This record gives sequence, structure tokens and C-alpha cells, in this order.
Amino acid sequence: MKKILITGGLGYIGSHTVVALLDAGYQAIVVDNLSNSDKEVLNRIKELTGKQVSFYQVDIRDRAGLNHVFRKETCDCVIHFAGLKSLEESIYKPWEYYDNNVGGTLTLIDVMREYGCKNMIFSSSAAVYGTPEQLPITEECPKGERMNPYAQTKSMQEQILMDIQKADPDWNVVLLRYFNPIGAHKSGLLGEDPQGIPNNLLPYITQVAIGKLPYLKIFGNDYDTPDGTGIRDYIHVLDLANGHLKALSRIQANCGCEVFNLGTGTGYSVLEMVHYFEQACGKKIPYQIEPRRLGDVAACFADPSKAKRLLGWEAQNGVLEMCKDAWRWQNKNPNGYKK
Ligand code: NAD
Ligand code: UFG
Repeated sequence: MKKILITGGLGYIGSHTVVALLDAGYQAIVVDNLSNSDKEVLNRIKELTGKQVSFYQVDIRDRAGLNHVFRKETCDCVIHFAGLKSLEESIYKPWEYYDNNVGGTLTLIDVMREYGCKNMIFSSSAAVYGTPEQLPITEECPKGERMNPYAQTKSMQEQILMDIQKADPDWNVVLLRYFNPIGAHKSGLLGEDPQGIPNNLLPYITQVAIGKLPYLKIFGNDYDTPDGTGIRDYIHVLDLANGHLKALSRIQANCGCEVFNLGTGTGYSVLEMVHYFEQACGKKIPYQIEPRRLGDVAACFADPSKAKRLLGWEAQNGVLEMCKDAWRWQNKNPNGYKK
């Protein structure tokens, strides 16, 4: 297994994973429609690895475009990152989320099987657990009532892949349920570059620290948590990237269909994250308490022991490291990938 096709490979998690793949000796083919990424990422990947990736600006809903890619490249496995990812936006734009995430995945799978590529690693999310029945969350934890259309799309995509693998055991599918990816490449050359106002906590905090936004809005301090603010399991994007390499080994071992949580196992509140970030950047982060955000749960953190047991994977970076790396990226690239 040498040639890996990465959908959404110029995005935040995808770009870090492409670097990890190239460093590990894989060949990377990237498909991305640039809806939430920048071509400059290709230069950064080249600078970091000394290697070139084949890039196709193609939408995964575009069957003819995908046919063209698969005709030109014989891929052994697809790592499928492409998708829309804002929980809150999905509440206002459900059609766009179902079309892009579910529709796009259906087209991608169909083209893959047409070309005999039946190996996939899929970017799922802790969001599929909804309000978790237990903490920490194991993979056996039932998928709760999904809080937003985004989570629903992830759950549907998982189900589609499970059913397809069941019907055709030639498929190998690894479903990776990420918790909250943050941080950036240690070089400061790759990082998270959201378009417009960030939805996620860490990019919002980094933009406050750099002076682009005046203060952080903390969404709710009346949750049933020790300080009242929401608790999440933040995981370094480099650890996540490494998880995909481990998943590739599982695919190579003909694993059938497997699901793994990728998290650290420790949850931090919003206020704790503010304090860690202040330590990392040496500045005060002003904040105001606002009402709860639609679609949020109080607390969400992983039991990552299955990934340790079967993938031999474990997160290496602590929360301060994650904040320092996020800050290095923001400080070096105040306007993200834009010059
Ligand atoms: P991202 O937006 O940075 O990357 C997604 C990439 O996919 C972007 O480069 C975008 O241009 C591309 N894309 C989107 N729709 C496409 C389409 N129809 N065709 C081709 N390309 C398309 O997001 P990310 O944070 O890197 O997330 C990657 C995946 O991981 C997503 O599926 C997301 O839902 C999932 N995930 C992310 C998080 C998170 O907090 N970042 C958590 C859990 C799961
Ligand atoms: N938060 C704020 N202010 C902000 C942004 C976030 O207080 O400006 C709070 C949220 O209320 C929540 C915590 O910070 O308590 C984390 O919020 P994020 O938006 O960073 O992350 P979410 O947990 O809502 O969602 C993220 C990804 C999803 C993914 C999920 C998996 O955006 O794609 O993690 O757990 F599915």
C-alpha cells in the first residue's frame, strides 16, 4: 500500500496528515475543492517534506471530476476528510451539510468501487455520541440523539460505510471519531486557517491573542461542570495525523470495519483552556460570558484505550504544548495562509 488519496487534504487535519504520510514514505494524491483551504498549503507541504503531492481541485460531489482522478491515479486507500464541519452553521444550512457530507461521500464511494479501491479511513467525530450516556466515552457508547445536522451527517456517513463493508467484505473501513483537534505543526508552517470569524474555541482564542478579535465569547457558564463552562477533549493535530498512519496499518491487515476514538482521555473546560493559552502566549485573553450556543453539550471526552490496544496509538502532546504550537502558528501567520 503506497498511494493514498486524501480528500480535503489541504484542510487543517488533512494537511498535517499529508505531511505525516509523505514523511512515512507514502505517495499522496490530494483532492480538495478549496472551499475551506488555500493552495498555499501545497507550498508549505513542499517546504516541510521536500516532496510534491499531486493536487486535483475537484469537488467530491463531481462524479466526472472524481472519475478523472481515479483514471489517472491508481490509489490503494482513501483518507476521507472532505466535508463541512461547523456544528452551529449546520443548524442554519442543513441542506448544504447533507448534500456536501452525505451526498459527497455517496458519490466518492461509488467511484471508488468502480475503480476497485475499497479501502477507506473516514473522519468521523465525537459529535456522533450526542449528549454522551457515559464519560469517558467508549466506542460502545450508543450514539445518542444527534444535537445538530452536522453530527447527523457524520453518523449517516458512518452507517453508509458500515453497511457497504458488510455487503461487500472486500472493503476495509476505519472510522476515526476525533475529539477536539487543536495545535499546529511544530514548524509554524501549517495550522488552522478558518475563513471568516472562527467557530471553534482555539482559533478564536488565537485571534484574540493576536489582536484581530477584541475578546473571547464564552458560550455558557451554567453547565453542570466544575466551573460551569463546557468540557472537551483537546487533541494535538499531529497526534491525530499519526493516528491515520496507524489506521493504515489496520487497513493493510484487512480489518473489515472498525471504529476508534481519537482523543487524549482528559477533558478541559473553556476557562481552563483560556488559562493554558495565556500561559503559552504570555498575554491576557479578555473574555465575556454569553448565553449557551445552540447544539453544544456540557462535557465530552474519550476513553482512548481501544486505539491504544489495537492501533498502538496514544496521544503524545499535552495541552500546554498544543496551545504553544497553536500560538506559534498564529504568531508566524497573522493572516493565515494569505500573504
Ligand atoms: P477543514 O475545513 O480544514 O478541511 C476540510 C477540507 O475539505 C477543506 O480543505 C475543504 O476545502 C475541503 N472540502 C470540503 N468540502 C469538499 C468537497 N465537497 N469536495 C472537496 N473538498 C471539500 O476541516 P478539518 O478540521 O481539517 O476537518 C477534516 C474532517 O474532520 C472533516 O470531515 C470534519 O468534519 C472532521 N472533523 C473535524 C473536527 C474538527 O474539530 N476540526 C472534529 C471532528 C471531525
Ligand atoms: N466555545 C466558546 N467560545 C467560542 C467557541 C467555542 O465558549 O468562541 C466553547 C464551546 O461552547 C465548547 C468548547 O468551547 O464548550 C469547544 O467548542 P468548539 O467549537 O471548539 O468545538 P466543539 O466541541 O463544539 O466541536 C468540535 C468540532 C466538531 C467536532 C467536535 C467533536 O467543531 O467538528 O469538536 O467533539 F465534531
